[in-house]
Amino acid sequence: MKFDAKKFIEEKSKELKDTIGDEKAICATSGGVDSMTCALLAHKVIGDQLTTLFIDDGLMRENEPETVTKWLRDNKINVKLINAGNDFFAALKGIEDPEEKRKVFRDTFYKTLGRAVKESGASFMIQGTIAADIVETKGGIKTQHNVLEQIGISPEKYGLRILEPLREIYKPQVREVAKELGLPEEYHQRMPFPGPGLATRIIGEVTPERVTILRKATEIVEEEILKELKPFQAFAVLLNDRATGVVGGKRAFGNIIVVRSVESKDAMTATVTEIPWKTLQRIRERICEEIPEVTRVLYDITPKPPGTIEYI
Ligand code: XMP
Repeated sequence: MKFDAKKFIEEKSKELKDTIGDEKAICATSGGVDSMTCALLAHKVIGDQLTTLFIDDGLMRENEPETVTKWLRDNKINVKLINAGNDFFAALKGIEDPEEKRKVFRDTFYKTLGRAVKESGASFMIQGTIAADIVETKGGIKTQHNVLEQIGISPEKYGLRILEPLREIYKPQVREVAKELGLPEEYHQRMPFPGPGLATRIIGEVTPERVTILRKATEIVEEEILKELKPFQAFAVLLNDRATGVVGGKRAFGNIIVVRSVESKDAMTATVTEIPWKTLQRIRERICEEIPEVTRVLYDITPKPPGTIEYI
């Protein structure tokens, strides 16, 4: 049966209205299509009873916090920007294990959120969990930070009830709902970006310096690939290994960046994008020129399965 976005919005709006009533709600939004859709849906139903919280965790893409909070403000949605980068870096210091990284990220995220929620006096939190997050967490593939009950986080501890209006639908339907709600194309057709941000694309320790390198590489990869292709997801990854190269005529033992680009419908499986050689060359050229700390650029040719899309 064809998915009916209008009907979905009507049903979920009624549910939200009936549940929230005259109370206050918050929605932590990251600029991704899932959380932006939740914010728009909730704003449509409860207006100023909603505050969106944007937690700048220091792990976002270039200019993301500024651009997203401006868009929300311009659209009359209450928004509070919380600068928590230092807290996340302090918590992630010295951690290399992938699941440990996810756990620390999650704990810091909910601690930060918990503080903001207390201040806001909200009783509900609207969260952009989608069906794929639940399936993968249940399947033990990884712990998605947005599937609370399955990772043992009790929302009551944070003094709020969780509402997840998108939990039954997958990404393509979320995009339809977003479009129907009037979210501009640059948001609803956006590539997915994981909750723990650039931390999912750093092997080894997540430090401000390493994030800066990866953020620059991410910008280059997105810019160059999106000029001519429309992959499901394209991004850069920073490895923990080093490789010898020549920078400015001198031998340098530098960082290795992996370029990853995949095609997928629902993120459950993925194939590798056949990027034209010229595009790959341009990416390599720009990364090595614009980021002197990098001496090697690799292209990942692993589909999902056996690989996952992200690196942790
Ligand atoms: P994997 O790496 O498991 O990713 O193949 C599948 C899809 O999920 C995204 N992803 C996440 N999204 N929180 C999110 O909101 C997370 O913790 C998370 N981990 C992975 C990933 O970008 C891909 O689209």
